[in-house]
Amino acid sequence: MRRRPSCPPRILVTVSLPGRATGRLERLGPVANLRRSNRALAEALGSPRFRKIEGILCTISDPIDMRTLSAAPALRVVSSFGVGLDHVDLEAATRHGVLVCHTPGVLTEATADLAWGLLLDAARRITEGDRLVRGGGFGGYSPSFQLGQEVFGRTLGIVGFGRIGQAVARRARGFGMRVLYASPRRAPRAIERRLGARRASLDTLLTRADFVSLHLPLTRQTRHLIGARALSRMKPTSILVNTARGPVVDERALVHALRAGTIAAAGLDVYEREPLLTPGLARLPNVVLAPHLGSATLQTRKAMADLAVENLIAALRGRRPPHLANPDVFSRRKSRRGAR
Ligand code: DGY
Repeated sequence: MRRRPSCPPRILVTVSLPGRATGRLERLGPVANLRRSNRALAEALGSPRFRKIEGILCTISDPIDMRTLSAAPALRVVSSFGVGLDHVDLEAATRHGVLVCHTPGVLTEATADLAWGLLLDAARRITEGDRLVRGGGFGGYSPSFQLGQEVFGRTLGIVGFGRIGQAVARRARGFGMRVLYASPRRAPRAIERRLGARRASLDTLLTRADFVSLHLPLTRQTRHLIGARALSRMKPTSILVNTARGPVVDERALVHALRAGTIAAAGLDVYEREPLLTPGLARLPNVVLAPHLGSATLQTRKAMADLAVENLIAALRGRRPPHLANPDVFSRRKSRRGAR
């Protein structure tokens, strides 16, 4: 049984938050700020202060697993700065009575923009050209030099058709594209009509699309969804874009496919063993590599910070946080309070 707080809640923040978000937290009680590093949370686990932590504001590279949960018996809420929750053992957190919150919605448009940025860059070989020009290799205009793929009027395949997938489809209308989507659930007819999108099996999508953009969460079922077999179904002229999660793609198979010409190019924002790259990937000319920038705009990151703080404050004050991933925990708490 988790104890009720008798003094201001102790909060651990593992990220440096943009905007005024940290100030809002500090007004709530003592805040321990970990200097940002990918090991920050893991290193804090052993400390006696960690046992008193009631709220954690962390991000997608902080593992919230059995080890973290057991080391923090006073923990009541984990507020993650980001939408993806693959770093959280949601079942274990629910068992431990810990609320888990995240920041969906506010990063939809920024992430869709980045997916389009990568798509256009990989299709028109912009970064490849940039490297060439900077290296002094530009010899003047030539009709047959560095030809890319036409985007307008082609077919876009979207794997995962939630908020971000749909925002990507909305942009495709301006490019006169046919849109296919693969998703476990069919989108409402009105959305399909508005976006001009048609549901297809993953196999059909892979064989028909000129561009395949991934917008699905990482789960046991989606790990390596795009592996050697899926890549072999794609057209040799097609382009893969991944702004979802690295492990959805088997990166070794992708390196092989890009090298062998199984597909033409890729645009990646996320990596299988982030921040490490699979050997060979960075040497390929036909891949654009971004450092996990999907939500990285000033406006979006501020909105994410505000939402992450709002989630945390609501939970610590006993209110339902705006974006809660395990509402059962909240209902259980509420009914216990009601029974008292
Ligand atoms: C997320 O929110 O899950 C992104 O990957 C980071 O912004």
